[in-house]
Amino acid sequence: HPRVKIKTLLQSGRSGYETTVKGWVRTFRNNQFIALNDGSTSASLQVVVDREQTDPALLRRIVTGAALSVTGTVIPSPGKGQQVELKATEITILGDCDPDTYPLQPKKHSLEFLREIAHLRFRTNTFGAVFRVRHALAFAIHRFFNEKGFVYLHTPIITASDAEGAGEMFRVTAFDLNDIPRSAEGNPDFRQDFFGRPAHLTVSGQLEGELGAMGLGEVYTFGPTFRAENSNTARHLAEFWMIEPEMAFYELEDNMNLAEEMLKYLIAAALEHCGDDLELLGKRFDEEEKQKPQQQRSEMGLLEKLKFCLDQPFQRLTYTEAIALLENSPYQKKKKFQYPVSWGMDMQSEHERYLVEKHFKKPVIVTDYPAEIKAFYMRQNDDGKTVAAMDVLFPGIGEIIGGSQREERYDRLLQRMEVQHISPEELYWYLDTRRFGTCPHSGFGLGFERLIQFITGMGNIRDVIPFPRTPRNISF
Ligand code: 4AD
Ligand code: MG
Repeated sequence: HPRVKIKTLLQSGRSGYETTVKGWVRTFRNNQFIALNDGSTSASLQVVVDREQTDPALLRRIVTGAALSVTGTVIPSPGKGQQVELKATEITILGDCDPDTYPLQPKKHSLEFLREIAHLRFRTNTFGAVFRVRHALAFAIHRFFNEKGFVYLHTPIITASDAEGAGEMFRVTAFDLNDIPRSAEGNPDFRQDFFGRPAHLTVSGQLEGELGAMGLGEVYTFGPTFRAENSNTARHLAEFWMIEPEMAFYELEDNMNLAEEMLKYLIAAALEHCGDDLELLGKRFDEEEKQKPQQQRSEMGLLEKLKFCLDQPFQRLTYTEAIALLENSPYQKKKKFQYPVSWGMDMQSEHERYLVEKHFKKPVIVTDYPAEIKAFYMRQNDDGKTVAAMDVLFPGIGEIIGGSQREERYDRLLQRMEVQHISPEELYWYLDTRRFGTCPHSGFGLGFERLIQFITGMGNIRDVIPFPRTPRNISF
């Protein structure tokens, strides 16, 4: 009998046929009922075993975690919660599981515990749901840009430039298998770096994305990026995935419109394609919120929160307006901010969240930040103080997108590079786009894991990437 996925079997609801399923045992009750899961859905299939007819030695091997192949007849289920179940006629143990040493037990484990056994957490309902949602969103991102005629541009992982000018890069060094630096005759530097030249893991594909946009028109990147900031927060990873569209002939407003349209498209796609997983994650979210003190609790459930973001335009305001608002807020007056607010400061996540969660109660786009706190490539505004930057702030997350209109004027760009000590010689290729047929253009970067955090309601960024890379996680 051809194997069916459990999702297909359950969704069709059809009965009266023979089939085979394969999966892992979640629970085995009364020597009779197996809850079998194969990762296609968070729901488990109920497999009914004829315990009188089954070899007791086999029954003993049906334990939580074991991998099975089951052939049987799909029958209508008398139990609640499922339309059909499988009446087993043949059970094969594909892989035994020692119940005494298997860390996953049929009970609720804490996320902290599951993070320590991250190699096995794919077998839990929560992580199954999170990674199916992650997949659906990756797919939806490509669909969104493809439908708009954007070109998917692969930008390099190894690079010599520091796109953000923040100096938070991992260095690349060549070693041979014996951990001895390679050497090359007559070139003592060869033993280091990238064939003798300094190289880093990319912090952003933006600068290369701009090169693509200045010929292809509209491009996007979607790949891993690396930051060597030693921050152990629930929103930072050393390796995260970023989506970076870059568009010729877009000004800041076009950029904001695209960012808002994209985020809404992605939320809608998750609601459309991940209904059952989001329902499960929504229940988890509610339980987590109940543990929090009243003031910190989300006013909405997960699905409600997602739909709410779709229903209205994001609030747009300038950095200067945002600072004025924060300065006059009850939080500032009652000294509730850890960092008091003043013009020129880099907004902290407490300020971003105040704007989004306490004041506007919806997603916010803040524009026109002080030049001093932003990267060299952002377009200078006429006021001589600010640049055409935009950050999109989301409830529970803070900054989810950072972007800007780019400085397309050669002299202005050169001047910003000098101020920020960025070598024009090293970035000659970037400057060339401003020398030859320059044009207004814009782009932004969406942190993929922060998007998934928002959509799944998972509080910690380590729980939305299969293999988190943080100062403490590197082994697998
Ligand atoms: O604001 P950032 O640093 O902007 C850039 O890298 C630009 N080059 C993007 C562009 O204009 N093309 O990063 C963009 C987004 C942030 O808003 C955040 O969502 C995410 O990337 N991000 C991180 N996510 C996880 N861990 C980290 N350490 C992150 N740093 C940034
Ligand atoms: Mg940023």
